[in-house]
Amino acid sequence: MKILVTGGAGFMGSTMIHYLLKNYDDVQVISFDALTYAGNLESLSDVQDDSRYTFVKGNIADPQAIEAIVSKGVDLIINYAAETHVDRSILDPRAFIDTNIYGVYTLLEAVKKFNVPRFIHISTDEVYGAVMEGESDEHSAFEPRSPYSASKAAADHLCHAYHVTFGVPVIMTHSVNFFGPFQFPEKLIPLFTCNLMDGKRVPVYGDGMQIREWIYTLDHCRAIDLIAQKGNVGEAYNIGTGHRVPNLEITHKLLELLGCDESHIEYVKDRAGHDRRYALNSQKLRTELGWEPATSFEDGLAKTVEWYKTNQTWLNRCRSGAYQQYYEQQYLLR
Ligand code: DAU
Repeated sequence: MKILVTGGAGFMGSTMIHYLLKNYDDVQVISFDALTYAGNLESLSDVQDDSRYTFVKGNIADPQAIEAIVSKGVDLIINYAAETHVDRSILDPRAFIDTNIYGVYTLLEAVKKFNVPRFIHISTDEVYGAVMEGESDEHSAFEPRSPYSASKAAADHLCHAYHVTFGVPVIMTHSVNFFGPFQFPEKLIPLFTCNLMDGKRVPVYGDGMQIREWIYTLDHCRAIDLIAQKGNVGEAYNIGTGHRVPNLEITHKLLELLGCDESHIEYVKDRAGHDRRYALNSQKLRTELGWEPATSFEDGLAKTVEWYKTNQTWLNRCRSGAYQQYYEQQYLLR
């Protein structure tokens, strides 16, 4: 089976590639990534000589680059490629429109043109907007409130429209907040972990009582694997754990894991348009496909913190951007 993983050098894409190579012998994985600030080939350095793995540098919004791969035949595309950081979308939405909307359009066109049998599009719970009480299920209306979530919602609508209009075999997934090793240190958990490791304070937005739902990376990979094999085309699946906590509770857990006291908390100005709460109903995935999360939040968090503590070199190179030059050079020399 030949699988194209777009955004393959990012946090979730690289974790999925590790998962596929570990669990399937008869797989060929093509990792496609633009290597922007969040893409890191070093995250895949342990598999770079695996004959089942290939890396191609490119942007999903570039039809020629995508068609060069897809025209040779692929059995499945999993689209992780995206601009994902809400704060960046508030500072400058442009890249979010280009990658998250135009990029998905480009992929859908290639899937249609070359009859790719299955296309999994990774999306977010943020498309449903803030949910002050209750849960969002797959039929809830989209009410995105940040440029990031609006760009993801637009892409989801395109996916749905391509299925209805052209019969493109797309499945959409809406996930809660991922966490785990290899995440770029701009998101809450890796940023706070790294700041505390360096003895710095952690910037809690507003009152810190915003609620997010969390999933450990490998549980998400297992869900995507199941959906790719058994999900119904044209449908959407919510992927959540039900583990919903205020940011401040996570902050306190991190302080404890890293042996720091409350003086490390710095309350800062709130994010503009900050969604107060997300909550996904993921019964469909559980009852129809039999998925359950396997890693508790506490275990996942402890593993994640330990990983950052023991991977300082990855972290330093990742923060400085030094790996990009080095690995790109290595890749070009091969
Ligand atoms: O819900 C799924 C989404 O989770 C994904 O679709 C997004 O790509 C991903 O970025 C994430 O969005 P969030 O905005 O929830 O993640 P982030 O880690 O940026 O923030 C988590 C919460 O922590 C949020 O309420 C904002 C808050 N926060 C975040 C940062 C970076 C802080 O209080 N301080 C911070 O410095």
